[in-house]
Amino acid sequence: MIDCAVWWATPVARTDEFLPLLSPLEAERYDGYRQELDQRRFLTGRVLAKTLVAARLGIAPETVTFDATCADCGKHHGPPRLPDAPVRFSISHSGERVGIALTEDTPVGLDVEAANRRAEDSLIDYALSETERRTVHALPEDERADAFFTYWARKEAVLKATGKGLRLPLRSITLTPPSELAGLLSSTDDSLTPESTRLADLTPGPGYRAAVALLTEQEIAVTEHHWSPA
Ligand SMILES: CC(C)(COP(=O)(O)OP(=O)(O)OC[C@H]1O[C@@H](n2cnc3c(N)ncnc32)[C@H](O)[C@@H]1OP(=O)(O)O)[C@@H](O)C(=O)NCCC(=O)NCCS
Repeated sequence: MIDCAVWWATPVARTDEFLPLLSPLEAERYDGYRQELDQRRFLTGRVLAKTLVAARLGIAPETVTFDATCADCGKHHGPPRLPDAPVRFSISHSGERVGIALTEDTPVGLDVEAANRRAEDSLIDYALSETERRTVHALPEDERADAFFTYWARKEAVLKATGKGLRLPLRSITLTPPSELAGLLSSTDDSLTPESTRLADLTPGPGYRAAVALLTEQEIAVTEHHWSPA
């Protein structure tokens, strides 16, 4: 059994308590965000990650330095990681939610989505495979957005667990219908198989959909927690 802990937070304030936790490269990214809420979401992801990783490793949050090198371009906007430490994690932010999923040494992906938009046909075509599109179109109009955002969060969680993110097309995987237990049915990418992909829906609160994926053949035990500044 693989344990995975998910922590939810709302974006923290930009205070002297938190800003010093950012490394120079992270501070540069933080400064690059134009919107205050984007800055606070980014900051909160790093605060959560450093605080929770430090607690697991028994070290001080200030001493945690992530490598976030992008595999595509070498900039520091890839998935943050601590290469030699026995902890893996995935960060996601949307609206007023910031989350992190942590586990020991299994690839993990977390996604949270604000489900406050209409599921336009163009969005459905972009994100869903043919089977999934049929499932959504068979639903009454007022249930489609819910189903779509459930699919979306589950799919992004899987793609984030691979570390490739949206470099793998959302349409390359087909998942179980939103009304059923979350799982992978098929993938056109050989690195993802139903046998070694575990998914769980999460409860980020009203108006949001979220899911976590772990790339393992073992069963998973997911717990959810709420984080707030001490
Ligand atoms: C990661 C990605 C899925 C973002 O999804 P999103 O719904 O907009 O945002 P989320 O909040 O859920 O996730 C963002 C977080 O995912 C993580 N992340 C970044 N790249 C990732 C990747 N390739 N795989 C998994 N996680 C990734 C980061 O922690 C990021 O937050 P941070 O920058 O604050 O640390 C999408 O941007 C992506 O696939 N990026 C990589 C592909 C790409 O664009 N490459 C070209 C860059 S040169």
